[in-house]
Amino acid sequence: MVQTTQAITLDPTGAHAHDEHRQLRGHGCAVRVDILGVTAWSVSDPALLKELLTSPSVSKDARAHWPEYDDAIQRWPLALWVAVENMFTAYGADHRRLRRMVAPAFSHRRIAALQQDIDTVVADILDGLDALPHGETVDLREHLAYPLPIAVVSRLMGVPAEQRDGFRQVVDGVFDTTLTAEQSEANTKALYEALQALIAAKRTEPGDDMTSLLITSRDGDEEGGLSEDELRDTLLLMISAGYETTVNVIDQAITQLLSHPDQLALLRDGRADWADAVEETLRLEPAVRHLPMRFAVTDIELPDGRTIPRGEAILASYAAANRHPDWHGESADTFDVTRTVKDHLAFGHGVHFCLGAPLARLEVATALRLLFDRFPRLELAVPAEELQPLGSLLSNGHQALPVRLRGATA
Ligand code: HEM
Repeated sequence: MVQTTQAITLDPTGAHAHDEHRQLRGHGCAVRVDILGVTAWSVSDPALLKELLTSPSVSKDARAHWPEYDDAIQRWPLALWVAVENMFTAYGADHRRLRRMVAPAFSHRRIAALQQDIDTVVADILDGLDALPHGETVDLREHLAYPLPIAVVSRLMGVPAEQRDGFRQVVDGVFDTTLTAEQSEANTKALYEALQALIAAKRTEPGDDMTSLLITSRDGDEEGGLSEDELRDTLLLMISAGYETTVNVIDQAITQLLSHPDQLALLRDGRADWADAVEETLRLEPAVRHLPMRFAVTDIELPDGRTIPRGEAILASYAAANRHPDWHGESADTFDVTRTVKDHLAFGHGVHFCLGAPLARLEVATALRLLFDRFPRLELAVPAEELQPLGSLLSNGHQALPVRLRGATA
């Protein structure tokens, strides 16, 4: 284990993320890092991470448990990640109250019932692609990975068609860690304006969607209802979590399958399932690399005898944990859809486990199944190593995913 007293500065561009994650693991179960000017303990040991994620000694409520909050909020480009007032940052009873309001809509049963709708959305997108001359280069991030989750989450939340592009731009901004504090503040302002416009439109004309339901809970006099800020920030969470993350998993899964034809063959022959490809992509290339932020509610003793002092920040380094050799052995860096231990932390763990996981899994598996069925000879238009990563240490996708579409014969 490499000993260090100095915090490791995380690269905001995410250009060499896997090397950086290896470096974090090399420092033991946890190491102090500088994330855009804020110091935190990056935890990459999966066993320790799971323990912390289920411990009442760890909170996501920065206002209550982070002495640096007032200062960070003024200058930190990731301020929004800790300032929002929704289940994402809530602790204890508040978290249960906020999560309960939306959780029923995301049960396995309710999500499985969306299969047909999702099949239709994907088939429509593929029809559009099929109409293009086969063999031409097409950016599948732009023309499949984005439109599918955007269509699904917009329908669930009732985002009108004319507002969808606007949301996309500002949601992308939330995950872009190359923005300055000023740029990120301007992005938050634009995001809040878009949310206010959505709330105003739905107050005037409610629909059969979750935004209208949440507004009813805010405006009714139910006990434990939402405050106005909680309403706005719950919409922010549902829309942003539903947009960006799923886009990246579709992008990464296609990239992995096209650059590992042996693995794709296993799926085509029925020797592995599309769901296996989704899980393996989530393990190897999780959509969220590090999740900001958690805080020590009390002093926390680490297995190696060190202590995370009360009030210090903790970064869940999911991508580094997912490739930990203690978990996945020597093949941890390999894309293998047949691996027997399929576990990963791409959706987090514990009370904040991703509420949208069943929906995301369904969307990605459907996209892959129908895409490779429609274009059996699909190929990358550039070598995988030349794909450019997003400018983000949080979000794990490519700037573009150029492919050549080819059907069975063309
Ligand atoms: C493959 C796509 C997705 C990935 C990789 C992903 C990942 C995550 C992660 C890592 C967390 C945070 C866990 C933590 O606190 O450490 C999270 C939370 C959350 N996700 Fe997802 N997510 C995805 C899709 C979605 C979708 C489609 C939705 C809803 C439409 C959604 C809704 C949420 C919500 C509401 C939370 C907060 C849960 C809480 O704090 O109690 N996610 N997700």
